[in-house]
Amino acid sequence: VIESVVTARRNGPLIAQAAKLWIKPDDLVVDVTWGRGRFWTDFQPERLIRHDLYTLDGVDFRVLPEVDASVDVVVLDPPYTAPGGRATSTIADFNDRYGIDLVPATVADTQELIAAGIKEATRVLKQGGRMIVKNADYISSGRFVTGHHHVVSTALACGLSQVDEFIFHGGQGPQPKVNRDGSPRRQVHARRVHSFLSVFQLGRRRPTAEPSAEVIV
Ligand SMILES: C[S@@+](CC[C@H](N)C(=O)[O-])C[C@H]1O[C@@H](n2cnc3c(N)ncnc32)[C@H](O)[C@@H]1O
Repeated sequence: VIESVVTARRNGPLIAQAAKLWIKPDDLVVDVTWGRGRFWTDFQPERLIRHDLYTLDGVDFRVLPEVDASVDVVVLDPPYTAPGGRATSTIADFNDRYGIDLVPATVADTQELIAAGIKEATRVLKQGGRMIVKNADYISSGRFVTGHHHVVSTALACGLSQVDEFIFHGGQGPQPKVNRDGSPRRQVHARRVHSFLSVFQLGRRRPTAEPSAEVIV
């Protein structure tokens, strides 16, 4: 039985679990944020196209070379946090640990980047095609940001239906005892130890509820 919560130290087992349900053997899969290919350590599709603006072939996921309605599965693992301005921010440490490079500076920039990626990925999907998006909520400049809600509402606004959701529990990493300026750390929000792998589908199914306009920042 494939369960919705995956506990692992790496993304590979998470992708392998999701693939059992949502990637078929003959699917054409396009990973538009290849990074270092760590998604595919435990499972690899037979037909896999790899793109990455910075680490691979210079393809920007906002302007894909694939033609309209030609892809069965798009996998999108964008930079999904924003460091914010505070010296107390630990997002930079998070990025170092997880290798997320070149993260946009602000929440608005991050959301704009992700929304453009989802829109472009929708363009290249065939009817019935799936979009698999890694995302998370996060704290930026002391503020709780509903990054997950933004991804879901953007996908629904693009005409996709949400068909599944996995919660990835990545375990505890090292937590700094002091702020970057040496002052003692005071915990304000629950420490985020999970992220999401959201699965969307184009067409064939009745769309899920329309998002309310105010959540699409
Ligand atoms: C979280 S990492 C992806 C890690 C990858 N899933 C792996 O398994 O190694 C985000 C990736 O998005 C890439 N990226 C950032 N902005 C991009 C853009 N506009 N177009 C394409 N790739 C982009 C970065 O180079 C980085 O490799």
